Amino acid sequence: MTNEQYYEMIRPYQDALNLLMARLEVFNHTVYDRSQNQPLHNIQSRIKGKRSIEEKLDREGHPPSVSCAKDYLRDIAGIRVICYFVSDVELLVKNLKSQSDLIVIKEKDYIRNPKPNGYRSYHIVLGVSVCYLDCREYYPVEVQIRTLGMDFWASMEHRICYKQERGDKDEVQQILIRYAGILGEMEEDFEKYNDRYIEDREET
Ligand code: GTP
Ligand code: MG
Repeated sequence: MTNEQYYEMIRPYQDALNLLMARLEVFNHTVYDRSQNQPLHNIQSRIKGKRSIEEKLDREGHPPSVSCAKDYLRDIAGIRVICYFVSDVELLVKNLKSQSDLIVIKEKDYIRNPKPNGYRSYHIVLGVSVCYLDCREYYPVEVQIRTLGMDFWASMEHRICYKQERGDKDEVQQILIRYAGILGEMEEDFEKYNDRYIEDREET
């Protein structure tokens, strides 16, 4: 894939990403009434780099061509949404699924079913319809939705474990699982106190 081919290929993915980012902004400032806090802590986005696309295709046994990238990769456009509470994640997923012009291509709920290493997050690949002068096409955008605690854990796990063969692997695995559990408990507690605060405020 040449640089020119790469930039030409990613253009519609960037359009799809921008369209979805706008939806998320709308969700963030409209979902709760104005007196309440916003449900999203922050939103990050990225378009996969040329090298990263080629390496992933290679890992999966495909030639590093534009057509293979389009056919086999669902994460050329990616968004990561960091929420405060699990209930915010659920609300956002419900909201995205209810938008009639978005299609669900793939969905993985690692919050209900955490990965064996302790990883938690909600992954959904959405087909975003992009309209051009003479055609309308769906482009996939991978959205990872997680809480602050899940993001902290995933960032640390990535930093400590990514592509590393190490002697203390078992110890690290145990620590990661233990802290995933502790972070989950912390979030549940924080959420309980937040709910109670909202109830109190509504009563007064
Ligand atoms: P990919 O080829 O990596 O896209 O795998 P997949 O199609 O099976 O997708 P999955 O939904 O399992 O994971 C996609 C992305 O989620 C990864 O690229 C990471 O960004 C993130 N992810 C998944 N598992 C882990 C994990 O164990 N640790 C961390 N830190 N991130 C993870
Ligand atoms: Mg991926």
